[in-house]
Amino acid sequence: MTDVLEVKHVRVRFRVKSNFQALVQGIEDPFIDAVRDASFAIVEGETFTLVGESGSGKSTLALAVAGLLPAEEGSIRFGGAEVTTMDHTALQAYRKQISFMWQNPVGSLSPRLSVGSLITEPYKIHKLSERDLKA
Ligand SMILES: Nc1ncnc2c1ncn2[C@@H]1O[C@H](COP(=O)(O)OP(=O)(O)O)[C@@H](O)[C@H]1O
Ligand SMILES: [Mg+2]
Repeated sequence: MTDVLEVKHVRVRFRVKSNFQALVQGIEDPFIDAVRDASFAIVEGETFTLVGESGSGKSTLALAVAGLLPAEEGSIRFGGAEVTTMDHTALQAYRKQISFMWQNPVGSLSPRLSVGSLITEPYKIHKLSERDLKA
């Protein structure tokens, strides 16, 4: 079985103080590690679950996997291709192959739109043909 997704030693940081604040307040490191040294692999056909308490970095890691947040360190490979160094065009093609299902339906799905248009919207953005949309 081949690895579809391979995450190795990934670190994602958020800046919590500006350089000025850090200087004034004597803070050496104005960043926090939201994800530190995360590694896992997902094999083709496998369902993978990442479990952790609130604030442990699950969403941040998912955003890095989707290329929506930069990984400070480590490697994220999808189908053998390195995601962390992809340019805009490569990321667009990559995002046709992965997607999120957000856990908050009220915030994620508009009650004004039909289920069909909600589900197909991302595919329309990625210009999939009408036939593929139905499938
Ligand atoms: N944009 C952000 N700026 C600063 N800190 C953030 C940001 N997003 C998340 N964090 C922090 O990163 C940590 C991990 O958050 P998150 O990935 O949302 O955890 P989980 O999804 O496991 O609940 C938390 O401490 C959170 O406060
Ligand atoms: Mg989360």
